[in-house]
Amino acid sequence: MDGARVYKNKNALFIYIRCCLDACLICLVVNMCGIIGYIGNDNGIEVVFNGLIRLEYRGYDSVGIGFKDKKGKIKAVKSVGRIQRSDVAPGMPNLEEKIKENGRFKFDSQIVIGHTRWATHGAPSERNAHPHVSMSGRFAIVHNGIIENYYTLKKELVDKGYKFSSETDSEVIAHLIDYFYNGDFVEAVRKTLTKLDGAYSFLVISEVDDFIIGAKKGSPLCVGIGNDEIIISSDEMPFVDRTKKVIYLNDNELIIAYFNGNYDVKSFEGIDIEKEIKGVPYDIEAITKAGYKHFMLKEIHEQPTTVKNAFISRVDHLDTMVRDNFPNLPRNINRVIYLGCGTSLYAGMVGMYITERYAHVPSRSEYASEFIYRDPVIFRNDVCIALSQSGETADTKEALKIVKDKGAYVAGIVNTVGSQIARLAGKGMYLHAGPEIGVASTKAFTSQIIAINLFNMLLIDDDDYRQSIINEMKRLPNKIKDVFNNEDYIRDIAPMIARYKNFLYLGRDINYPVALEGALKMKEIAYIHAEGYSSGEMKHGPIALVDDNLLSVFIITGGRDIYQKTLNNLLEIKSRNGKVLVITDNVDEMRKYLGNDDYIIKVPNTIPQLTPIINIIPLQLLSYYVADHLGREIDKPRNLAKSVTVE
Ligand code: AGP
Ligand code: GLU
Repeated sequence: MDGARVYKNKNALFIYIRCCLDACLICLVVNMCGIIGYIGNDNGIEVVFNGLIRLEYRGYDSVGIGFKDKKGKIKAVKSVGRIQRSDVAPGMPNLEEKIKENGRFKFDSQIVIGHTRWATHGAPSERNAHPHVSMSGRFAIVHNGIIENYYTLKKELVDKGYKFSSETDSEVIAHLIDYFYNGDFVEAVRKTLTKLDGAYSFLVISEVDDFIIGAKKGSPLCVGIGNDEIIISSDEMPFVDRTKKVIYLNDNELIIAYFNGNYDVKSFEGIDIEKEIKGVPYDIEAITKAGYKHFMLKEIHEQPTTVKNAFISRVDHLDTMVRDNFPNLPRNINRVIYLGCGTSLYAGMVGMYITERYAHVPSRSEYASEFIYRDPVIFRNDVCIALSQSGETADTKEALKIVKDKGAYVAGIVNTVGSQIARLAGKGMYLHAGPEIGVASTKAFTSQIIAINLFNMLLIDDDDYRQSIINEMKRLPNKIKDVFNNEDYIRDIAPMIARYKNFLYLGRDINYPVALEGALKMKEIAYIHAEGYSSGEMKHGPIALVDDNLLSVFIITGGRDIYQKTLNNLLEIKSRNGKVLVITDNVDEMRKYLGNDDYIIKVPNTIPQLTPIINIIPLQLLSYYVADHLGREIDKPRNLAKSVTVE
């Protein structure tokens, strides 16, 4: 990543090398649920508790910590629900209640692990919450991912006399380590690793030794190296205010973290590995709410800056900067295939319209989750772009593997530096949008569309075209600020909008994906049924839904023909007494068609390739204020987690 600092060596001596990882997306990982471990001289309970709060966006159905007490015994404290008392209704369970008394931590420990869960096996409950302690009480683990062969392993362990106290797949890890333990903790973990199938990262502590072992295969794990402490966690957020020095573990690597900031990294086979120490690419401010009520609102408001970050250092040297990000791009591209899930897929759909219309290259966008199951036909000169905010979405990663194996040209458009998808792609562009913490993706979408435009500029050998895009990109930050002039209006209408039971989001052409994305936002944070449809398809079925409980949300901007055709669809709804909300750059004309109980939101005019960036912002705000009015948990909507690392 631009400006990332690279340090080398394991004992805080470092060689400082400024590097630009952007040219080749190397690095690593991130995944669903958060795990954290601390070993050092501070109160590890407090460090882990605060770290879990920062990891909570990754999963939040239950939570727990495990630690060595003063006598060296392992203790675990778990809770369903949330970490902090302030996040739950009075009387509801939370971890804070269990570990704090009169504002002070009840325990003190220097070797601590913690977990915030997004259940895959076994309901969210206290007994299924991590850490899981081996039957002997000697080992405790926290695990992120899935142990695919857990059922077989569990059966074998039960046959050997082990008793399970949870329904999770993870518990087998604790018992296996116990089973293999023969005086050598590291060896027991290594033997356990040979038994596990699936994707995982886990941390384990033991009664017998004063160190933490972490292992990674498929799920993320990074290590913050402080002066006299080590924090191992799913991402850098828990330690960014304690140290900027980080190492990213690769798959099939394990770390043994000791007191005084010392550590060893080994392969699963036990071979020593020298790791580069890198610099965390953001500051603590990037992960605070900065006065906003929710991260989502903060992230929506960051978009003038994040959009700019995505293009500013690249457009003046398009041919070097961006071309270097896509080295050896085939001359005769057969097709451009955009792969992603959710919001990232919708950004890819925008890409499909741009590639076909302006680069005249056949293009598709594919739900990664469908693509991976149909043995897709891929040709050598196919260019496949994986889009992902987190860089750890399992389906997108699998799709990328498939196209890579089939010999396509692959690249990533990714926000999280060093994530698995970034590493696997090996080339592409980072978004430079900073950490996105709200579960509903906002700023990543708009930055992805910038990146897609930059990529497409490489395919279009026309300086005038490129210059016109660059000029308009430079105007975008101010135009986005203009969109925020509607914010009070959107906040004011939210209580009325929240009364609707159904939403139909309608857009045409490049704004069809915007309709899909707008509807996704409403579903995921307001929990109201919302469907995105291409406005032309509306009359082939969905129009039957028009009634008093349905609000049709139209996106009507851009070229005259598209505008007129979409307007016709709006009139079809109006003539059936449907209620509408319109996002438009042509307010004066639109007013002629709308009644007093319809809604209109003005957006600035821009070129078609960038309209999705402008048009999605009022829709993000709309879902935000509707959800806020309904008292939803906006940053952590029910049943969701920030990244979906299971297929
Ligand atoms: C977006 O609001 C969603 N939370 C979700 O659809 C998300 O976009 C999807 O899971 C893909 O995530 P990624 O961009 O991290 O790969
Ligand atoms: N599979 C484990 C469980 O269900 C871990 C899930 C997670 O990554 O949070 O407990």
